[in-house]
Amino acid sequence: MINCWEIGKIAAAFFAAFLVIFTGQKIVHISPNNSYLEGDEVGYKLPVDLAATGKSSKHNALSISAGLDFMKIATLMQTASVDSGASVFKKCGACHTPEQGAKNGMGPNLWNIVNRDIGSIEGFKYSDAILGKRGNWTYEKLALFLHKPKKWLKGTKMAFGGLRREQDIASVLIYLRSLSDSPAPLPAVQ
Ligand code: HEC
Repeated sequence: MINCWEIGKIAAAFFAAFLVIFTGQKIVHISPNNSYLEGDEVGYKLPVDLAATGKSSKHNALSISAGLDFMKIATLMQTASVDSGASVFKKCGACHTPEQGAKNGMGPNLWNIVNRDIGSIEGFKYSDAILGKRGNWTYEKLALFLHKPKKWLKGTKMAFGGLRREQDIASVLIYLRSLSDSPAPLPAVQ
């Protein structure tokens, strides 16, 4: 037997369902357009490279904590010239040869250095510090190393104080990149 009370409950249930459907439609209707956000600054934005890879952003956070903003260097690299890098490289030339097949100096030969395995020149007597590093020389690791060699690589034999100016680091990276038959792509910037 359906009494008044039950009819009331059924009506309430219909009303509730009605609300859900309509409110739901409203939400679905608004968000794809994002019309209420247009031209507005959203609360926070994810860094583009975090969205893309996650990894490089983590690296960049590292660089910033080491007193170096790699994204800034990567941006400067887009316009830095090989010539300006060659002039910064004069500081390195006392110890390093840049040409393919040239002899090691006090430091190892730097042909193909970008993306080369760290500490991998046969016959060069590297420090234990550098031999303990794994992986290859990305632009970011090169930037960190060249910025403060002894700080980034405790115990390195490279007796060089480091490059403090971001522009110099960017230029020398562009020069190092040119030491190859097939130069690596430039780093991505946000
Ligand atoms: C006083 C000599 C000296 C100067 C100046 C110097 N380096 Fe070095 N460099 C070395 C030595 C020695 C090593 C080997 C480090 C080790 O074994 O810890 C080295 C290692 C390196 C490596 C790692 C190579 C590899 O095979 O893994 C890079 C890259 C490098 N130097 C770049 C530079 C650049 C670029 C400059 C100039 C901005 C520079 N260096 C200035 C002596 C020098």
